[in-house]
Amino acid sequence: MQRFAFAAFSSGIAKGFVENDYLCGMMEEEKNKMKIPVLAAPLQGVTDNVWRMAHHEVFGGVDAYYAPFMRVEHGEVRRKDLRDVDPERNAGITLIPQILACQPDHALMMVEALKRMGYSRIDINLGCPFPPIAMHRKGSGMLAYPDLAEELFKALASVEDVQYSVKMRIGWDKNDQWCDILPLMETIKPVNIAVHPRTGKQQYKGELDIEQFEALLAASSWPVVYNGSLHNVEDIEQTIERYPTLAAVMVGSGLAANPGMFAPDATPDDYRRFHDRLVEGYTEQLNGGEAQLVRHLQDIWQTFLPGTGHKLFKAIRKSRTLDQYESAAAAALADVENALANAYSTEE
Ligand SMILES: Cc1cc2nc3c(=O)[nH]c(=O)nc-3n(C[C@H](O)[C@H](O)[C@H](O)COP(=O)(O)O)c2cc1C
Repeated sequence: MQRFAFAAFSSGIAKGFVENDYLCGMMEEEKNKMKIPVLAAPLQGVTDNVWRMAHHEVFGGVDAYYAPFMRVEHGEVRRKDLRDVDPERNAGITLIPQILACQPDHALMMVEALKRMGYSRIDINLGCPFPPIAMHRKGSGMLAYPDLAEELFKALASVEDVQYSVKMRIGWDKNDQWCDILPLMETIKPVNIAVHPRTGKQQYKGELDIEQFEALLAASSWPVVYNGSLHNVEDIEQTIERYPTLAAVMVGSGLAANPGMFAPDATPDDYRRFHDRLVEGYTEQLNGGEAQLVRHLQDIWQTFLPGTGHKLFKAIRKSRTLDQYESAAAAALADVENALANAYSTEE
């Protein structure tokens, strides 16, 4: 289990995550240091079962993976979404599936399907900022409609033997809309709330609203998980130090950019192995032919190793056949050490 130390842990909030065996045998001076889990954020189009299994097998270091949201389309749960969380395709990892819905009946359909697959812990998406989704009052769009959130929570609370968590923004178009939503969660008593401190309208741009995050953290009766712009282990350590009551941290684009973030001994060969697993996995799973496969692999490079040199990246983007792609990717991966060193000079 990847854990980060922080001092002066305030008792209670993260209890559920702390393993007793971990506490045994600690040195006296370490007794008031606790550690918290690291969660891999869901990234639609990136962190699917192929990515998760490759990550777990090659690098590891996260305590749980969140699956990208599933949804109901044309009156049924999308098959592709169900396949992605199929326990056989996620063997050996802790996976938390996520649902996105506005209508309570759609949410229940997904929860029942997940229960049948053996899941008893499900995440509720109140964070997606994508306009076509938010405009339908789903994801972060629901944060402007507490009455809809209340109906949704009530319906979900009626299902037995399921624990929920929530992944949310601070609001849709106002930065304090969380204030109206938080008390409604009493119905579902979430295991935790992962908060990305931006409004949905901000999408992924603009300043993180740390003031609102701190207000939410202070007001929440439920464990809070911080999520947003954690690019490396130092960012995580600083966050944990700053907010000793956090239950966990969640890492998204930072982990997609450098999947070896929590594997300090990872070698260039491990990055090649990780990439080879992706190619193998998508070759097996995608059935749209070579062009689709190449497009998907190119999409992965939108987030993977952002420090990759311009020419190397361009060759990946320009490839049209799998052979061309593979030689372009091999050249980029031969330069992985530079890409990692440059990653943060090229980022926001
Ligand atoms: C391409 C992309 C896809 C995403 N898909 C999801 C998703 O399916 N469910 C979700 O809750 N959040 C999703 N997010 C949001 C991330 O999980 C995370 O909250 C956000 O990127 C901020 O964290 P980060 O700065 O660590 O990336 C997505 C973000 C991106 C950029």
